[in-house]
Amino acid sequence: MKIAIVLGTRPEIIKMAPIIDEIGKRGIDLVLLHTGQHYDKEMSDNFFKDLEIPAPDYNIHVGSGSHGKQTGLMMQGIEEVMIDEKPDIVLVQGDTNAVLAGALVASKLHIPVGHVEAGLRSFDMTMPEEINRMAADVCSLMYFVPTEESAINLLAENISHKKLFITGNTVVDACFRHLEIAKKRGIEEESLANLDIENMDNILTLTMHRAENVDDEHRLKGIIGALEELNDMNIIFPIHPRTKKTLENFGLFDKLNSLEHVHIIKPLGYLDFLLLTSMSTLILTDSGGLQEEAITLNVPALTLRYNTERPETVTAGGNILVGSDKEVILENARKILEDEEFANNMRNAKNPYGDGNSSILTLDAIEDYYNKGLLKIESPEDIMSSFNRKMALIDEDITVEDFEKENQSLIHMIYDNGVMKFPASELNLKGMMITYDCFQ
Ligand code: UD1
Ligand code: UDP
Repeated sequence: MKIAIVLGTRPEIIKMAPIIDEIGKRGIDLVLLHTGQHYDKEMSDNFFKDLEIPAPDYNIHVGSGSHGKQTGLMMQGIEEVMIDEKPDIVLVQGDTNAVLAGALVASKLHIPVGHVEAGLRSFDMTMPEEINRMAADVCSLMYFVPTEESAINLLAENISHKKLFITGNTVVDACFRHLEIAKKRGIEEESLANLDIENMDNILTLTMHRAENVDDEHRLKGIIGALEELNDMNIIFPIHPRTKKTLENFGLFDKLNSLEHVHIIKPLGYLDFLLLTSMSTLILTDSGGLQEEAITLNVPALTLRYNTERPETVTAGGNILVGSDKEVILENARKILEDEEFANNMRNAKNPYGDGNSSILTLDAIEDYYNKGLLKIESPEDIMSSFNRKMALIDEDITVEDFEKENQSLIHMIYDNGVMKFPASELNLKGMMITYDCFQ
């Protein structure tokens, strides 16, 4: 079997590393393709070194650019490699433009796509990541979903349960393995070593890079307003290159950098970053991966967003969505700092992302599919849907139970303004769209 992996950004390198390791252990052929979306040493090469993964076989050096240009260039480059290499499966991870490009190209070449971290939904179509992850899920054959919640999202989109594999998230594998290595090695990056974090109290690790935050001056000002007042914390901010540029463009960088309790440093390698986060009292972030790592490392997280495709972290109690509102950020940060019971409850939140064996479960599923001859894309031979299936927009007051009795039917799905509802018998269906099987 030959597996191709397409990746392009920092989080994809980190989360694919355990899978690359596992492929190596099993002696499976690997083709590693880097799109070159992230190209700074601090955003790419350092992670290959820290995570001890082989250098990519191909780098198509797309660099930065608009979404269309970047994705188009990636598709062109990925297509050439896939035609040459003819892998049995292409794996993509998460929700970046590399995922969109990799999934589109492979599926059009009839090469099965496996989506690692599939099924996440923020239901926010203003986010480029939501478009990427949804489009990738349309193109995939195997879905490696981190939680039951993400599996349900895909079931609701009519994906067969036979293609879903609840594996946890490979970030847990990476975190567990590399924290031990990091502790043995110690801090390497000078800018972090100089801060002497081992002897520091009240560390707040800050990261942000989401377009909706850092490209929006009003939201940036709200967040910075809160940071200014959190002067009893040591705020350590390894800054994403996108954020540095936009802060400079808005004339906000110098102001933030001049605050004595705020330490802006360049992006850290994975080992140094794990040491920093694991010693933190609080993580303030808009990162996807960091929401998962915070609950894995038992560090309370405040997420600088109004929605999340990682709702499990919030319902488990380890993460609070604070948006970019100064007062909400301050109120929650203070509570974590001053209310020991509140902070402990956040720290003790159960990690929903598995035990660190996600890469093993993923490779088990791929090998099983391969051995059973299921790694293929074919046109269907049968008529795919039943003639009894119907849909209706309900314009009267009627409950689920009464509708089913009156129409001798079974309701499958109920959508209230696009949001799926559980078909509880007493639910009033007025104004909702339903699908149902009719037995008459
Ligand atoms: C991308 C992903 C985002 C992911 C993030 C991880 C998309 C649409 N976005 O966002 O989902 O959470 O990576 O960090 O795929 N830049 C550099 N050096 C680099 C890379 C980028 O200076 O090595 C600067 C450039 O000015 C570039 C900007 O950062 O224009 C944004 O980079 P880009 O890759 O477009 O998006 P990210 O914000 O990194
Ligand atoms: N990370 C890192 N160094 C840093 C900041 C983040 O190693 O200076 C890691 C972090 O541990 C996490 C990942 O980068 O695993 C998250 O990447 P990012 O926030 O860029 O992207 P997202 O997860 O939001 O897609």
